[in-house]
Amino acid sequence: MKVTVVGAGSVGASCAEYVAIKNFASEVVLLDIKEGYAEGKAMDLMQTASLNSFDTKITGSTNDYSKTAGSDVAVITSGIPRKPGMTREELIGINAGIVKEVSSNLIKHSPNVTLIVVSNPMDTMTYLVHKTTGLPKNKIIGMGGALDSARFKYRLAEALEAPISDVDGMVIGGHSDTGMVPLTRLATRNSIPVTAFLSDDRLTQVSEDTKVGGATLTKLLGTSAWYAPGAAVSALVQAIACDQKKIFPCSAYLEGEYGLEDIAIGVPAVIGKDGLEKIVEIELNDAEKTKIKESAEGVKKTNGLLEL
Ligand code: NAI
Repeated sequence: MKVTVVGAGSVGASCAEYVAIKNFASEVVLLDIKEGYAEGKAMDLMQTASLNSFDTKITGSTNDYSKTAGSDVAVITSGIPRKPGMTREELIGINAGIVKEVSSNLIKHSPNVTLIVVSNPMDTMTYLVHKTTGLPKNKIIGMGGALDSARFKYRLAEALEAPISDVDGMVIGGHSDTGMVPLTRLATRNSIPVTAFLSDDRLTQVSEDTKVGGATLTKLLGTSAWYAPGAAVSALVQAIACDQKKIFPCSAYLEGEYGLEDIAIGVPAVIGKDGLEKIVEIELNDAEKTKIKESAEGVKKTNGLLEL
């Protein structure tokens, strides 16, 4: 399994590190436009190999896509992250051009690649890749829900005073402060609905804290987060590499599912060797249906800013 990560910045390097540490990939290529940067990150990470007991070979490249040839999976993290007070949508002008160019270069050298889109505004960038690359829709996965769900579980565990491994929950909808739909009704602690433990008000607070999870960190860090984003991407890469058939909420191109069309937005999906193998349609109640519809309207508005 050969994995390319474009963008050797905070999220890209974190992703490469988690992929390597989990030891399931033979090779990770880090690529960045900044001269020597990816090579430096790759060398630094390789010098952790004997300490962290992994055999994955990590190499770096300054914009030489021939080094990425034959990649099974490629992660696109290239672009600018948001600064405190910015929304993800404000990044569209710069990131759309980058994502379009990067995805085309990747496919030229790896025609069978599965792309994982991370750059923000992620749902719109995923839509752009669907509209411009001609890859089959199962080969394009937007990463947002895996991260948002991890943040949801963190907040749930905090509210429940429970270990995170006892908690399950999922966030669907757009990957934005206003678009996320944390499914509190379906969240569980050891298979028991969390509604048995937490009041409506506390659950609303958990949802609100989840939705601004990224913004909270951006404020604390001065730039956007990287550990959890990198770990979330690496979980998707592993699900593909090891054909795990795990379900993650991912930004998928919809053609009628959830009553939505011509949009990429977060819905539960089975991830395995063929990429996004199946969209899972779950029964939503009326309130949840309204929220996902409103979320989709927001994503479509941002998509309208694309020059396709
Ligand atoms: P960063 O600034 O640390 O890294 C971005 C890297 O991309 C830089 O090293 C830059 O040189 C490189 N780059 C820019 N243009 C390029 C090009 N044309 N070709 C190759 N490399 C290029 O940013 P960070 O924090 O790693 O975030 C990356 C992106 O991921 C941002 O758009 C951010 O908003 C997004 N993000 C998305 C998340 C999600 O859940 N979908 C979570 C966290 C971040």
